[in-house]
Amino acid sequence: MTKNIYNNILLKKGFIDAKIDPAIDVVREIKEMAKQKQAVILAHYYQKEEIQDIADFIGDSLYLSQQAAKTNAKVIVFCGVHFMAETAKILSPEKKVLLPDLKAGCSLADSCKAEDFEKFLKDYPGYKVISYINTSAEIKALSDIICTSSNAVQIIRSLPAKEKIVFAPDKNLGNYINGLTGREMVIWNGACHVHEAFSLERILEIKKAHPEAKIIAHPECEKPVLIIADYIGSTSALLKFTLQDDSDSYIVATESGIIHQMRKANPKKVFIAAPPKDSTCGCSDCSFMKLNSLDKLYNCLKYEAPEISVEEGLRKKAEVSIRRMLEISEKYGI
Ligand code: 13P
Ligand code: SF4
Repeated sequence: MTKNIYNNILLKKGFIDAKIDPAIDVVREIKEMAKQKQAVILAHYYQKEEIQDIADFIGDSLYLSQQAAKTNAKVIVFCGVHFMAETAKILSPEKKVLLPDLKAGCSLADSCKAEDFEKFLKDYPGYKVISYINTSAEIKALSDIICTSSNAVQIIRSLPAKEKIVFAPDKNLGNYINGLTGREMVIWNGACHVHEAFSLERILEIKKAHPEAKIIAHPECEKPVLIIADYIGSTSALLKFTLQDDSDSYIVATESGIIHQMRKANPKKVFIAAPPKDSTCGCSDCSFMKLNSLDKLYNCLKYEAPEISVEEGLRKKAEVSIRRMLEISEKYGI
């Protein structure tokens, strides 16, 4: 039976979404099943706290792709979104890669469809195509090098100064690194719905009430938020900054899941989630990231589904640009 048919039957019959009997110690069972099946659990910083706490490895997109490339485990359970699990499968095709909820997509990856991107590239012959890891395998196959928010600047700087660049799909990250590197760059018009949603006005109101708090922001945020930020960086860079900096409080302009790690690492410091423009909500959760739950993780390990598959021809093409990213990152010690 193919993976997709198996995934679909389990989904349709409600096995993957099934609630777990409250009498079961889900955390213990997950750990036990992972051990038995030689599975490694990778979790992005934007996952729910209880998932972060159970993971073998927790980190940003780059760190998790590095772990996926080098793990000896037989099974990779990716607690993140689809493009992350797909990247793991591209790097480790012989392993079974599972994603607890197949609907965990990404608005940024969705903002760049392969057919549109292929047409777009026709206008830029000879340009180097640098794409963010938040893209489908098809976009990765059309790209020269992949980057993440941790290594985008070094990846761009690794190219000869005269090289013309197409950067996709995040316009905010693209504009930010363009400003830092001064390279000739054409930028795709995509964005992440979470990072674009931050309200400058509401952040400034919080800053007024807590003038001592430093504003720290992910480069996927819009320019006005980046202008007022005291520090800009990837999720792991923001976490590191809170450890090295001597402030007592921070306004955090990225998905709120990272605050769990910031609080664990700095128990005496105060972290305030930057609020979105929609004033009915105080949080900044990625609805895709938060689809994964402990119950789904339990079912995912039990049934070994949903499983990610990538057609071999496409996988091989997409692997080239991801491997280039890993090589450059290694060279720069990132
Ligand atoms: P990093 O993991 O590179 O910080 O990116 C954040 C993000 O948007 C992941 O979806
Ligand atoms: Fe995609 Fe934004 Fe969610 Fe990251 S936070 S997975 S970029 S929608």
